[in-house]
Amino acid sequence: MSAVQEITFHPQQSRNAGYFTQPFLTNAWYVAMWAKDLPPATLVPRKIINEALVFLRKEDGSIVALADRCPHRFAPLSRGKVKDGDQIQCPYHGLVFDSGGACVHNPHGSQAIPPAAKVRSYPAVEKHRCVWVWMGTRTPDPSLIPDFSLLDTAPEAHMTKPDHITIGAHYQLVSDNLLDLSHAIYLHEGILGDSPTAEIKVEQQGDTVTVSRSAKSVPLVGIQRLYWPHPSTIVDRVNSIRWDAPCYLLLKATVCLPGQDPADGSGYWGVHLLTPETESTTAYHFTAVRFNVQTLESENEAINEKIGERRRFAFEQQDGPLIAAQQRTIDEATEVLNPVLLSIDVGPVRCKRILERMLKDD
Ligand code: FES
Ligand SMILES: [Fe+2]
Repeated sequence: MSAVQEITFHPQQSRNAGYFTQPFLTNAWYVAMWAKDLPPATLVPRKIINEALVFLRKEDGSIVALADRCPHRFAPLSRGKVKDGDQIQCPYHGLVFDSGGACVHNPHGSQAIPPAAKVRSYPAVEKHRCVWVWMGTRTPDPSLIPDFSLLDTAPEAHMTKPDHITIGAHYQLVSDNLLDLSHAIYLHEGILGDSPTAEIKVEQQGDTVTVSRSAKSVPLVGIQRLYWPHPSTIVDRVNSIRWDAPCYLLLKATVCLPGQDPADGSGYWGVHLLTPETESTTAYHFTAVRFNVQTLESENEAINEKIGERRRFAFEQQDGPLIAAQQRTIDEATEVLNPVLLSIDVGPVRCKRILERMLKDD
């Protein structure tokens, strides 16, 4: 319990701002979008840790990320045009920028290019079916991107459609939600489910934290019925979620016969990639990949579709509105709030402490 008791909050300008508005980690890779959402020759805007960016996939397939702000009159470049495959023309007065952000054409007057006519460029790579962008000033290292290699090899037939929603809250409230899956019993009753008496285990390897909840001889819940191949409706369940800073989570949701080794069970990997847009909005990218698939291959496409729909419903209609309301409640409080801490908070507290240390180094 000592980890839980040592949690600290830092009230700042508004009474409870400190709960959310630790500064964002800048020297980190952030998911800008699913790679499929960046077709060639298309300008795609995204906001990431309060910075407006524009993304472009070049003709060679590599990815450009520039500040989405022309240095002339600050028009968003994402409203402009792609020129010659790899360049961006401002929609307002036609300056053209190359993929490194340098102005390469000024159509006006003597056509001289002012030295200040450049746009910040951000390192961006495609990995694990996502576009990742480095927001800091330190040298980026793609090997620091957390391991979601299961997405590289996932058979399409066992994977739900890569999807995303926006949640009207600070990303830490969303990661707290995922790090404490006890909420599934109450908020996702009948769909996801869990057990209030589940045994909680928190493990840490380097800065990676895994929170596991296991329960024995419990009833199957809604989503599990879709892929559970046995007639028995009483199962052992293990939900184990891995966290990497600042906001990447990988759930392994397993069900097995009572007493069976969970390694022989069936279930899915739940991929949860959060991207802080602002202090009060978070882009939430998700998909699920099944493992030890024991249903008929001819049925798997329909099963995936249902798993994808139910997870989207749970996140968009149940988690999202509650987390947004939670943020509003905290914002509007007229007194400094100190949360009551429960045994279930040990995972979120551990991660918050790691993040606080990283923010000091940032
Ligand atoms: S605002 Fe871009 S060229 Fe004028
Ligand atoms: Fe949830």
